[in-house]
Amino acid sequence: MNVGFIGLGKLGLDCAEVMAEHYTVRGYDLEPRVSESVRVCDIDEVVQQSDWIFIAVPTPHAEGYDGSVPSSHMPPRDFGRDAVMDAIEQINRHATAPKKVVLISTVLPGTTRRYFVPALEARHEFLYNPYLIAMGSVKWDMVNPQMIMIGTEDGSWTGIALELVEVYRPLMQNDPRIEIGTWDECEAIKIFYNTFISAKIGLANMIQDFAMKIGHINVDVVTDALAQSTMRIMGPKYMTAGMGDAGACHPRDNIALRWLAEEYEVGYDLFDTIMLARERQAKNLADFLVIQAQKYNLPIVIHGKAYKPDVPYCIGSYSTLVGHYVQQAGHRINYVDPLADDTTDVSVDWNKPAVILLAHNKHVTYGYTGQTQTETNYFEFLAGSVVVDPWRQFNKSTPDLTVIHYGDTR
Ligand SMILES: NC(=O)c1ccc[n+]([C@@H]2O[C@H](COP(=O)([O-])OP(=O)(O)OC[C@H]3O[C@@H](n4cnc5c(N)ncnc54)[C@H](O)[C@@H]3O)[C@@H](O)[C@H]2O)c1
Repeated sequence: MNVGFIGLGKLGLDCAEVMAEHYTVRGYDLEPRVSESVRVCDIDEVVQQSDWIFIAVPTPHAEGYDGSVPSSHMPPRDFGRDAVMDAIEQINRHATAPKKVVLISTVLPGTTRRYFVPALEARHEFLYNPYLIAMGSVKWDMVNPQMIMIGTEDGSWTGIALELVEVYRPLMQNDPRIEIGTWDECEAIKIFYNTFISAKIGLANMIQDFAMKIGHINVDVVTDALAQSTMRIMGPKYMTAGMGDAGACHPRDNIALRWLAEEYEVGYDLFDTIMLARERQAKNLADFLVIQAQKYNLPIVIHGKAYKPDVPYCIGSYSTLVGHYVQQAGHRINYVDPLADDTTDVSVDWNKPAVILLAHNKHVTYGYTGQTQTETNYFEFLAGSVVVDPWRQFNKSTPDLTVIHYGDTR
């Protein structure tokens, strides 16, 4: 098989050399490059002689946006796209047959669909295939990946996505997980993988700051205890997007830590940002409900007022936070919840079509206990209702109902 690389830099050259152990690999770079196994040649030869063309050119940040100097005060900027656009242009210009084009470079979600695919001639196919590779271990990382992400137009497990899996298979020293999604989903997996790590480190280092300010705290005692908390913290729990964090403890703990951060002058307030995000997420959901209510001329009902199912407690409830923003938008809010200990705006039943927010989901909340959860609706969802499910589990083809899986825009 003939493989081509455009961009033989810190990532591209090592990756091309790994591929060269199994395939015939040609590579092109604007700068002179030397390799014992990759045939470095002109761009026209790389394009014309390769079935697969991997693009590993830079998607640079603007000057001062690499994190080595303060940048949080500066306006946000996207990565540069010019080198990728140039590589695509070169493929269009030199290809004498259809090519399978694979972009490795890191880009923000939405970039491929918006800029790159329209620029590539339709006779070629395009995959987005970012790597989770670190400097210093590029070759090892490439053949021992935690996962292989392959983005296609519709995210289906077909066509060249599966062909690319077979291209990688002989290279791998482990048996990596394969994640095939849309271009946009794979862009998101890559960038949120990295930023998740930044958030995790930011939290650990905040504990370090508190240790230095408060005294009598060894940060390792705290982080080690958290690191071994595999039931809720270090594991897949809470990785299902849906309603926000809620209850008698979590929101107020964040809110109180804002005070502690100020008291000890740590110089930043991570929890302010987390709480602001929680509130804006609730408002975004509320705005979405209001749009549906206006579109279908229906009232809004939140299915579940307590902060989670099977308990009466409305303290710290995310349902009421969403309800607050619905009311702020000038709409009446109604809740149905058989247990809620705060009965304001709560009806015992609902017998009209409505926009229904499925706030409660027993499976998501209690699934970790291993006990089977039976989802029973608190009232009958009448024909003509619009069901908004932030957990994306309600059957989308339920007759007479419009079911919206909030968070799934495929
Ligand atoms: N370095 C890493 O560890 C790593 C890991 C994962 C992802 N990435 C991503 O991969 C991409 C490349 O990263 P890198 O570290 O290899 O960058 P790099 O700057 O080391 O290498 C890019 C290479 O592309 C060449 N180039 C620039 N424009 C070109 C063009 N128009 N045509 C042909 N060649 C061109 C440059 O001369 C350079 O050799 C970036 O998007 C980066 O974010 C890098």
